Amino acid sequence: MKIGIFDSGIGGLSVLNEACHRLPEQEFIFYADTDHVPYGTKTPEEIIGFATDITEFLISQGAEAIVVACNTATSVAIKELRRRYDLPILGMEPAVKPAVEGTEGKRIMVIATPVTIREDKLKDLLHRVDGDHRVDLLAMPRLVEFAEREEFESEAVDEYLRQQFSSFDKSRYCALVLGCTHFNYFKPAYRRYFGEGTLLIDGNKGTVRHLAEVLDLNWSQDNVDEDEIKHNILCLRNTEYFFSGKRVEDEKTLEHLKRLHLRLEEVRNI
Ligand code: DGL
Repeated sequence: MKIGIFDSGIGGLSVLNEACHRLPEQEFIFYADTDHVPYGTKTPEEIIGFATDITEFLISQGAEAIVVACNTATSVAIKELRRRYDLPILGMEPAVKPAVEGTEGKRIMVIATPVTIREDKLKDLLHRVDGDHRVDLLAMPRLVEFAEREEFESEAVDEYLRQQFSSFDKSRYCALVLGCTHFNYFKPAYRRYFGEGTLLIDGNKGTVRHLAEVLDLNWSQDNVDEDEIKHNILCLRNTEYFFSGKRVEDEKTLEHLKRLHLRLEEVRNI
């Protein structure tokens, strides 16, 4: 089956990476809207427009299902996409539910884009699952900029985290929820800041599991050859890559994608 996965930028690559690990028999089309990134500071109308164009494009390229690998676009556009298009469309939301259900007592921090933090979708989710009011929300738009320029490890990133988290007492937090797919690249920096005791929870595994269930796909278990899968991912096999409607073909951008996958492999189990 051909599955379209899109994001405003390279964040969605973390969802693709997980999907390639778990669903190695499938074909993927990955679309990063690099002309319009970031979405997290744009208006809902703009984001709905981009998401609609991309969905249409992916369908024209043969996608039989779509994953909106972007919490921001999901927040504002998923209803409209499902209303317009008659194929399975899966969205992403910050993994607050597993964070609340998997921990006790201490607080949970959700970091995401300003749009995701502001929209009703997240408020409704908190209303449903955060009865004890343990969850705090924090917008971190600059992490998207750092990610887009491939700056994952730097003093500037660490300094930004320190500044943003400075009004919270980090010893009170048992979990950090990565509510933006771009934020996966920075797992070592969160670890440095919060230490070993804080869980880092992203929505990728849950999203890919949900995708497998909805499409009734074979779920790759532990008996698969992980090295071979990793090799295929790093060689960019089984996936067509598009940046804002243009097929990625030039060596420089292909190398960029390979480096990003390598980074995702390195941080996958942190
Ligand atoms: N990666 C996106 C998300 O999950 C959005 C980042 C952005 O474009 O602001 O929310």
